[in-house]
Amino acid sequence: MLMNAADAEAGPDLEPRIATIGRELVAKMPTARRTPRAAVERRVMGAMVADPELRAAVFRFVDVRPACDDPRELARHLGELLAEADDSPLARRGAALADGPLTRRATAKAAALGVEQMAQRFIIGADARDALPAIEQLWRAGAATTVDLLGEATVTEEEAESYARRCEETLLTLHEASRAWPSRERLERDALGPLPRVNLSVKVSALTPLLRPAAPERGIAGARARLRRLLAVARDTGAHLHVDMESFDTREAIAELTLALLSEPEFADRPSAGIVLQAYLTESPRHLDRLLAWTREHPRAQPLTIRLVKGAYWDHETVEALQHGWTPPVFQDRRACDRNYEALTRRLIDAQADGRVRAAIASHNLRSIAHAAAYADARGLDVELQVLRGLGDETQAALLAAGRRVRAYCPIGDLVAGMAYLVRRLLENTSNDSFLRAQAEGVDLTTLLEQP
Ligand code: 2OP
Repeated sequence: MLMNAADAEAGPDLEPRIATIGRELVAKMPTARRTPRAAVERRVMGAMVADPELRAAVFRFVDVRPACDDPRELARHLGELLAEADDSPLARRGAALADGPLTRRATAKAAALGVEQMAQRFIIGADARDALPAIEQLWRAGAATTVDLLGEATVTEEEAESYARRCEETLLTLHEASRAWPSRERLERDALGPLPRVNLSVKVSALTPLLRPAAPERGIAGARARLRRLLAVARDTGAHLHVDMESFDTREAIAELTLALLSEPEFADRPSAGIVLQAYLTESPRHLDRLLAWTREHPRAQPLTIRLVKGAYWDHETVEALQHGWTPPVFQDRRACDRNYEALTRRLIDAQADGRVRAAIASHNLRSIAHAAAYADARGLDVELQVLRGLGDETQAALLAAGRRVRAYCPIGDLVAGMAYLVRRLLENTSNDSFLRAQAEGVDLTTLLEQP
């Protein structure tokens, strides 16, 4: 029986469906990898979980990135940092839990290797051409992709210009290649119309060196011209362009820029475009109010896609706010954050039902995913679910096996450009509140699927 919005919001009726979908997905997940590579990764993560100071050091680590432009060197630095943790009793316990004790040098080497291997798992290729086989393989398997060119927070105009050019080239390369892909009806059309085969995610902080927290609006002028160029290429090649959200201090400026450009007559209908809503921000419900108000005032042939994420800058936001004596803009309570994620999920799916937006629910939290699927089913809708390449592979396989619509976020680039991205993944997955960590530590399924 289909529910209307009011019924579905009533909640309790949804719980049995959420539990069933969650259990079905787990049953369809391929078993966790038991390779030596996975053991090294567990060891790296184990060291970070065991030692909060190490997490803090890894968090600070991205600061040294500009001084270091050799990927091997970078892996070695981070590896050494992780290996130092072996000096603390807590970390020894973490190491023992992972693989048994090792000498410090061996640990450093293993950690450096682990860092490189983890990066290889998250990063789909060195550039668009290199990544094409993997992207096509995903498409053939029934999963759409959004490609992300690694690199953010550029420091020079040349860097920003080169990033924009690489984005243009990537759109053209993908466009050319995607023409030969076999038809995948499921990925090329939804109830609201055709869906582009090519989908690129961009970070505005990579398009301008001036997107500085103190005066983000100054950087926006530089980014505007470059983002406009990318929108034009996306429109002319029929691709989708998705603007990522980054830290809180630039959120307002990025959202304003994106919506202003999409309001211009030349982009009023095309390209298909999207923006991100970060559920860990306490003010995200009001941000969604504004996004939905905009979609009412600017109906588009290709409705705006809103990707709902939890948010990847939690440590940054919390440390930044505490340093300034501000209240952190992010939820400090996991359950409150998860409840907000679910409330936003329902609102986005309701907006999709009205034809105003396309919702994309991006998560590795089984409960959040099962909730989105159950609510979409109850409303008779097919909602897109998104995962990160390398982190969400098992979830992706299970969702595909369950016949759900999935898109994988696939970074392209090298370890230098990808270091901040990799560190965000390390921090997310070793935080106390990490769903993936709880799952890896064997928390039982009933608890994992509990209503937050
Ligand atoms: C990040 O770069 C996936 O956009 C997200 O952390």
